[in-house]
Amino acid sequence: MHRPHSPAQPAAVLPASWRDLTSVRELEKICFGRDAWPWIDTLAALTFPQTVRLKAVADELVVGFIIGDRRRLKRTGWIASIGVRPNYRRRGIGRTLLAACEDLLGMPRVRLSLRSSNDAALRLYQQAGYISIDTWKSYYRDGEDAIVMEKVR
Ligand SMILES: CC(C)(COP(=O)(O)OP(=O)(O)OC[C@H]1O[C@@H](n2cnc3c(N)ncnc32)[C@H](O)[C@@H]1OP(=O)(O)O)[C@@H](O)C(=O)NCCC(=O)NCCS
Repeated sequence: MHRPHSPAQPAAVLPASWRDLTSVRELEKICFGRDAWPWIDTLAALTFPQTVRLKAVADELVVGFIIGDRRRLKRTGWIASIGVRPNYRRRGIGRTLLAACEDLLGMPRVRLSLRSSNDAALRLYQQAGYISIDTWKSYYRDGEDAIVMEKVR
């Protein structure tokens, strides 16, 4: 029997690897435009063993991804990148990816940075328990400031 896809169907969160390079690159371009990483950095993130990288899969499509890093000496995890395909947003995929990445990082605190104008990301992080701890003035190429946020776990 044909069962139509329900939008309420949760996306599956799975480990990502270099095999997902094309899908993650595509998503990065959709989500970040000119701020998208160079492909070599994405490949490195999907390959280096110390990096946490996850994908969200729905409708047989990679609809979200997250990349996390560990700074072991500082006992700090960093969320390096997170993105969700536009027509899959506001379904809890970003929140689920973030929580899964924090768990796998396994660090007592997690930090991240975002454009000061990125309200969707700011709300997501605030809702997940992050607080603003710093501003990096003119951090982005176009001169926009970055907000630095931290969550103590
Ligand atoms: C930021 C982003 C990853 C959020 O992904 P998402 O799957 O839509 O997030 P969720 O559905 O899990 O949202 C969780 C909460 O975050 C907040 N939120 C997310 N998007 C929001 C928006 N556009 N406006 C206001 N609040 C928002 C809400 O509180 C939401 O909870 P609710 O839907 O129950 O109200 C997504 O918008 C995205 O990919 N943006 C482009 C890339 C980007 O900016 N990445 C972050 C770089 S720092």
